Amino acid sequence: MRYVLFFIKEVLMEWLQGGRKGKIFRIKDKVYRPRGPWSDAIHKLLDHLAEEGFNGVPNAFGFDDNGNEILSYILGDVYNYPLVDRIATDQALISAAQLLRQYHDLTVSFVAKSSFKKLQWMLPGRKPYEVVCHGDFAPYNVVLKGRQTVAMFDFDTAHPAPRIWDIGYAIYCWVPFKTKSDDALGDLHSQSARAKLFCNAYGLLNSERKRLVSTIINRILITHETQPTL
Ligand SMILES: Nc1ncnc2c1ncn2[C@@H]1O[C@H](COP(=O)(O)OP(=O)(O)O)[C@@H](O)[C@H]1O
Ligand SMILES: [Mg+2]
Repeated sequence: MRYVLFFIKEVLMEWLQGGRKGKIFRIKDKVYRPRGPWSDAIHKLLDHLAEEGFNGVPNAFGFDDNGNEILSYILGDVYNYPLVDRIATDQALISAAQLLRQYHDLTVSFVAKSSFKKLQWMLPGRKPYEVVCHGDFAPYNVVLKGRQTVAMFDFDTAHPAPRIWDIGYAIYCWVPFKTKSDDALGDLHSQSARAKLFCNAYGLLNSERKRLVSTIINRILITHETQPTL
């Protein structure tokens, strides 16, 4: 019987591309990803978002016996750098910023729960804990339908922090303000215009915009200094 089950699993299993190689797979409508010490916190967060009726994130279905978390598979298109085609459009960027805003707003009541303090995250929290930052809200961690960014996944790096902490990194990745030839897009003029589009679509306050550049710099420095390799 064990061999039959193993065979069925092998036949149905599809390795997913765009993240760590040979680690993330799909069987029918479920995604399997390596479980970490922070996965319990992430599943509580995803459950909270589901209770709020938000369908821009996967649903959590617990864990298997092989050290994986189980999530719903979200239908749509996924992309990676270099940004070409639909993921490179202003519509994709604007809807991504709107999605991030919706997500952040819904995490406010999660942070306010008394059980929140006990949760363990991969990355250190940054006070004030306004929201739960996604932590890696980039074009390679979202699902598009047409030119519309409709969902986000890959919550391993989620952690409590101010909104601008997530927005800064998202703008760096979405504009993108990247310089490697594979990741770069446009020139400083078009990049600034896209950064403004993102801020407007998110509804970022003017007072916060003044802190944006310094936040992006700090966020990138911290990523390179502290983020563990999974
Ligand atoms: N819930 C999901 N729905 C649809 N596709 C997913 C989902 N989770 C992961 N994927 C796919 O699997 C790939 C790798 O998953 P991801 O969680 O981003 O792994 P990593 O942590 O290694 O970056 C993604 O690029 C995407 O194509
Ligand atoms: Mg990823």
